[in-house]
Amino acid sequence: MKTLHSYWAYIVLAVLIFTVVKAIIGLTQKKEFTHKEFRLGLFTLITAHIQLLIGLGWYFMSPWYKALKTNGGEVMSEPMARLLAIEHPLMMIIAITLITIGWSKHKKQVKSEAKFKTFAIFYGLALVLILARIPWSNWF
Ligand code: HEM
Ligand code: HEM
Repeated sequence: MKTLHSYWAYIVLAVLIFTVVKAIIGLTQKKEFTHKEFRLGLFTLITAHIQLLIGLGWYFMSPWYKALKTNGGEVMSEPMARLLAIEHPLMMIIAITLITIGWSKHKKQVKSEAKFKTFAIFYGLALVLILARIPWSNWF
């Protein structure tokens, strides 16, 4: 489960970066929002939701959650444990929520510009949050 989460993260990051870059290009060059962009946005949403599921699955079997339940004080005072037990999971849930909100909002919009803008803002912010709270030293 942990390994799966670790590899799936590459896919999530790759498609998310791709979506954000395309949204910014689409916005600045006033491109038309076609079904290709729609599919990319949806694909990113789905990979993120799957990562959420895998992340939650691993979280509740992980030693980090156990440590938090039995020894919360120590987890909070130790930066790496706090990152894995609290900061990363919480921040990723917020990020995935932003992606989901961005997805819902873009569906209700009609103009290409508005759709690209919504993707750029919501998916972009999610990307920043994800990059900020990935346990980099554990990865690769
Ligand atoms: C903990 C697990 C999950 C939660 C809490 C969750 C939550 C949500 C929410 C709130 C929406 C609503 C978005 C809207 O308003 O349109 C949504 C949409 C969606 N989710 Fe998830 N999801 C989860 C897992 C998954 C998984 C595992 C998949 C795929 C295998 C998935 C695929 C989708 C798709 C395709 C949509 C709708 C896209 C559309 O609007 O057409 N989700 N999810
Ligand atoms: C966009 C969503 C997410 C991304 C890109 C992501 C990415 C990552 C990465 C790269 C790692 C390091 C992997 C390694 O140690 O090799 C990691 C670890 C971890 N993630 Fe996530 N994650 C996401 C969402 C979540 C969620 C929603 C949860 C739980 C609610 C979660 C729980 C964890 C835990 C507990 C670890 C620590 C693994 C360990 O060392 O035991 N992640 N995540």
